[in-house]
Amino acid sequence: MNYAILISGRGSNMCALLDAGLPGRAAVVISDRPGVAGLDLARERGVATAVIDRKSFAGREAFEAALALELDRHDVALVMLAGFMRILGDGFVARYAGRMLNIHPSLLPAFPGLDTHARALAAGVRIHGCTVHFVTPTLDAGPIVIQAAVPVLEGDDPDALAGRVLAREHVIYPLAARWFLEGRLELGPDGRVRCAGGIAGAGGPDALIAPWEA
Ligand code: GRF
Repeated sequence: MNYAILISGRGSNMCALLDAGLPGRAAVVISDRPGVAGLDLARERGVATAVIDRKSFAGREAFEAALALELDRHDVALVMLAGFMRILGDGFVARYAGRMLNIHPSLLPAFPGLDTHARALAAGVRIHGCTVHFVTPTLDAGPIVIQAAVPVLEGDDPDALAGRVLAREHVIYPLAARWFLEGRLELGPDGRVRCAGGIAGAGGPDALIAPWEA
């Protein structure tokens, strides 16, 4: 199964995916911004890269059409958003329904959108974390595949908390990708996530929460 990773920046989740020995083939890494660090990291790993620069398209539809053309050219079964900083339109999301995943740095449905770590600190939560979910038209609201929790510690600032969460992102995203590429993970017609054989190693046969130490 071919998969693609969409990035906009440094690409640490992309690296976690590419370095995980996933059963599929990394067909292409696409960035919506030229010159980002993640592109070099993908090339170093021998993965094909493409830049579909949002700034060179008049509108979102033309940009997304070019993105879809590139993805379909590589015949990808799975699209993974990894720090991809564009909101995707309904048509694009529908085209990849049930085969597009995203990683979000909060325990959704808490803190969708940006600045999640600062907002978690401001809210005074004791537990924070990250979520892998299927992408649906509403931002950061798609069916949840797996989550990892981390404690919020005394004296945390957004950077310290982000680092603790990011380490867990690098654990759960490759897990979710593996399940999908093994054909175990699917988004049912009822909008529920199913993982054949349960989510082993994630705290119990059917647990969707993985608060373990990596
Ligand atoms: C991660 O925190 C991810 O959850 C969020 O954007 C950040 C991207 O980081 N969507 P990286 O590019 O994967 O290092």
